[in-house]
Amino acid sequence: MSTVPYHIAIVMDGNGRWATRRYLPRVAGHKKGVDALRACVRHCAERGVKVLTVFAFSSENWNRPPDEVSGLMELLAVALSREVPQLQAEGVSIRFVGDRSALSDKVRHGLAQAEAQTAGNTRLQFNVCFNYGGRWDIAQAAARLAARGEPITEASLDQAMALAHVPDPDLLIRTGGEKRISNFLLWQAAYSELYFSDKLWPEFDAAALDAAIADYAQRERRFGRTSDQLQPAARKAA
Ligand code: IPE
Ligand code: IPE
Ligand code: MG
Repeated sequence: MSTVPYHIAIVMDGNGRWATRRYLPRVAGHKKGVDALRACVRHCAERGVKVLTVFAFSSENWNRPPDEVSGLMELLAVALSREVPQLQAEGVSIRFVGDRSALSDKVRHGLAQAEAQTAGNTRLQFNVCFNYGGRWDIAQAAARLAARGEPITEASLDQAMALAHVPDPDLLIRTGGEKRISNFLLWQAAYSELYFSDKLWPEFDAAALDAAIADYAQRERRFGRTSDQLQPAARKAA
């Protein structure tokens, strides 16, 4: 098994607390979170990770105070206009995953443009889950299959899901100390290795990412098998 995960997924949690501890508005924490994300994309590409999927805004985050929600929408729009050149330079292909119907025309246009501009890049596939929920994804996949009159099987659902363009995440990281999945990749995380960090997302730097990758490298992924089945030759010799 390769020691570097092919696909890392991250619940970027803790921006609000980072800001509150500094007597700053929560949106300031989200801004700092964008800086951490920019660095994280670069580190992932440098480490040889091929797919990075991040949770940026959940289906449930609409329940936050209106000024925080509009701040996050604004931040998405600003990031879209600013970050594409760096993604291009680093060979990163960006894809937005989630329900776009609730987003403004302007933002939707920006998402499509960023995707089109970076579509040819192959060094790192970067998926940004925005207005995403794991339940939404399963339901929309099932609805699409039903509309086409196709049978609903594990394989057909898998292909209809919003992340069908990448393999399932190998490593799922959550920062911010909470140990829950919060409706992130419910289907795709079936066999992901889980890693929880107490660091708040704005503080999650290259060293923290390396610690998560090193922890992952120690795991034995059994996928239902026994330990002996995984390395029979090595075990016989021991
Ligand atoms: C995660 O940070 C970012 C989003 C949900 C958009 P939070 O804003 O949830 O930060 P905390 O958990 O309140 O500290
Ligand atoms: C999960 O974080 C969503 C994102 C990181 C975008 P939340 O902060 O919204 O999760 P809960 O509400 O604490 O479970
Ligand atoms: Mg949170």
